[in-house]
Amino acid sequence: MNVELKVIGQPVNRVDGPRKVAGEACYAAEFDLPNLLYAALVLSPLPAGTIVAIDAEAAQQAPGVHAIISHENAPRLPYEPFGKRPQVDAQSGDQLQVFQDRKIHFSGQPVAVVIAETIEEAACAADLVKVTYEISEGETTFDPSRAREPSRGNEKSGRRGETETGDADRALAEAPVTIDAIYVQPREHHNAIEPHATIASWDGDRLTLYDKTQWPDNDRDEIAHIFGIAKEQIRVVSPFVGGAFGSALRTWPHVTVAALAAQVMQRPVRVELTRRQLYTSIGFRPHTEQRVALGAQSDGTLTAIIQEATGQTSTYEEYAESTLDPAQNTYACPNIGTRYRLVEMNTNSPCPMRAPGVATGMLALETAMDELAVALRMDPIALRLKNHAEKDQHKDLPWSSKELRECYRVGAERFGWEGRSLEPRSMHRNGLLIGYGMATAVYPAHRAKASAEATLLADGTAIIRTAASDMGPGTYTSMTQVAAEVLNLPVEKVRFELGDTDMPFAPVHGGSITMASVGTAVQAACQALLDDLSAVIRSAQGGLFAELASSDFLWRDGGVARRDGGEVIPYAKLLHDLQLDRITVKGNAAPGEEIKTHSSSAFGAVFAEVHVDPDFGTVRVPRLVGAYDIGRVINPKTARSQCIGGMVGGIGMALLEQTEWDERFGRPMNGNLAEYLVPVCADVGELDVTFVPGDDTIFNPLGAKGVAELGISGVAAAIGNAVHHATGIRVREFPILPDRLIA
Ligand code: MOS
Repeated sequence: MNVELKVIGQPVNRVDGPRKVAGEACYAAEFDLPNLLYAALVLSPLPAGTIVAIDAEAAQQAPGVHAIISHENAPRLPYEPFGKRPQVDAQSGDQLQVFQDRKIHFSGQPVAVVIAETIEEAACAADLVKVTYEISEGETTFDPSRAREPSRGNEKSGRRGETETGDADRALAEAPVTIDAIYVQPREHHNAIEPHATIASWDGDRLTLYDKTQWPDNDRDEIAHIFGIAKEQIRVVSPFVGGAFGSALRTWPHVTVAALAAQVMQRPVRVELTRRQLYTSIGFRPHTEQRVALGAQSDGTLTAIIQEATGQTSTYEEYAESTLDPAQNTYACPNIGTRYRLVEMNTNSPCPMRAPGVATGMLALETAMDELAVALRMDPIALRLKNHAEKDQHKDLPWSSKELRECYRVGAERFGWEGRSLEPRSMHRNGLLIGYGMATAVYPAHRAKASAEATLLADGTAIIRTAASDMGPGTYTSMTQVAAEVLNLPVEKVRFELGDTDMPFAPVHGGSITMASVGTAVQAACQALLDDLSAVIRSAQGGLFAELASSDFLWRDGGVARRDGGEVIPYAKLLHDLQLDRITVKGNAAPGEEIKTHSSSAFGAVFAEVHVDPDFGTVRVPRLVGAYDIGRVINPKTARSQCIGGMVGGIGMALLEQTEWDERFGRPMNGNLAEYLVPVCADVGELDVTFVPGDDTIFNPLGAKGVAELGISGVAAAIGNAVHHATGIRVREFPILPDRLIA
């Protein structure tokens, strides 16, 4: 963008903030529909088996109960296959077909639903449904000896079993300095504040879903395929999402249950998952075990990178992650080998969570890089600079922009890295061991095609609409800024609407692609609106317009003016004089040639200070410092919020988060927020975020690379590296629990 920016780059407050604070923002479960019925799920307590019988007699007699739906009486649903699977679904296997047969695939699988007049009556009756099962042998243990290669669907989507550049095994064998270790990252759950919920309402053959989703358009497509109806018969409404972290990317079985129940009842039905049900009804970050082997010359030059990952998946679907992508292009190295394997278990399917794959891969890679720095007696930043990737060697393309060196420099300076001793366990204060650690952060920048519609109203204000989602990063706000910038309006005069399939198509709100994708569509729509208005002015008759057209004109300060100066004619007067009550224009944006000529990624450097109690093994993180290259920063306030959110997630990953898995019953043991530990305020110290100057106009015309998932990348490794620096103990099994430090 070559013009001087007025609104883009400003720390604008969240435009939806007042509505949220006042309780006026309506979340999926809160839509108040007349005649609403409530549903409660009955879940399988067994990980594997067959339903023998369902005794719904007592439940049917319970107060307020209207119906009990199970495989015994549920309508058969077509579950039509997709021609091309949406990228948010598992790429192999078959989704769970709810209430269609007797088979049990995992503990927590819905086997029946009770529909009642109130939520309490539904829940109470659900407890009365007696289901008998025939138990069968299930796989409830993560056993790497059962690991297998990803199948074709995943190979095609880039999750390959093996990749090899050069000869990594040989280079490793010949390297004078090597690291070879196993890293374990446990199953983790998203735990967004808003539970997943759906209200379904049929009007004849038309279905409206009020849903928690990160992708309204795909939510509609999925339900259309499941019910075998045209997507035009479905409308998805999702104006607010109370956090998701990837859990609302795909359409889970409870959405189908809501639609099915509402169809059977011929009344609107609400399904809201309980906190405990969220641990089995939606996905999770899969337990993953990794081997990283690094070979280097004595000056730190990497000669071999081998990274192998084995993740868990379900028996009915094959979910695979991009865990090994960072190994391929984060550091310059001639010999790189990766190997990816999956272990099927009787569990619900995993799904993306907070930088899926990348956060996991970087946890292992960046810990291993720290181990290598220790082995080389080299400063960890110096080691990374030594192996700086000047291009994306995997794609063999130049970066569209990369300010990673500047991130290391700025981050180190703000952190005070030069005060660090090289020797582990050498910094103390008040009986505590002090450690400084760092890690590189990467997250690939992607962009998808998107559309938006811009309307200028008679009063001179604008409305922008697109079926995007805002799960919390500030889509409402940043998109308002983009529109305000192009239209030369103050943000107060722009209203941005999203989360409705009646609006123009928007891609998935995940993978940190929203700004690059939807933002450029908003920019294009607003620009197209001005172009249309220009054409109207040029063709209009009359003194004012003739004068404008003859002298040439430009858009500024909420209106139009002669290029050679003079008064601004505000939009309202312009539309009035043109006898227009509004003008609406659609804009589209899509990636172009740049995806063939360049590789795009966001970068960063994260620094952690930890204080470890040597007697109790407790770790505190008094401060984290991150310096990031995200291209152009649209809103430094919301972008900072993204990064500090990622840092908090990283503290969780490093020290707290872990879904405890009961191998006997094949289910989580701590499926609640009392026992699943997430960082609370007392766990979070000072979080310092800086954005280094950047503007990636090769990647897209807005110059923004996306923030979100970059924020968690590398954080857990930086904390773990700081723990090693503090204690001399290398914990390779996360989270770093106190007992792992006092062995
Ligand atoms: Mo993100 S895990 O792509 O919502």
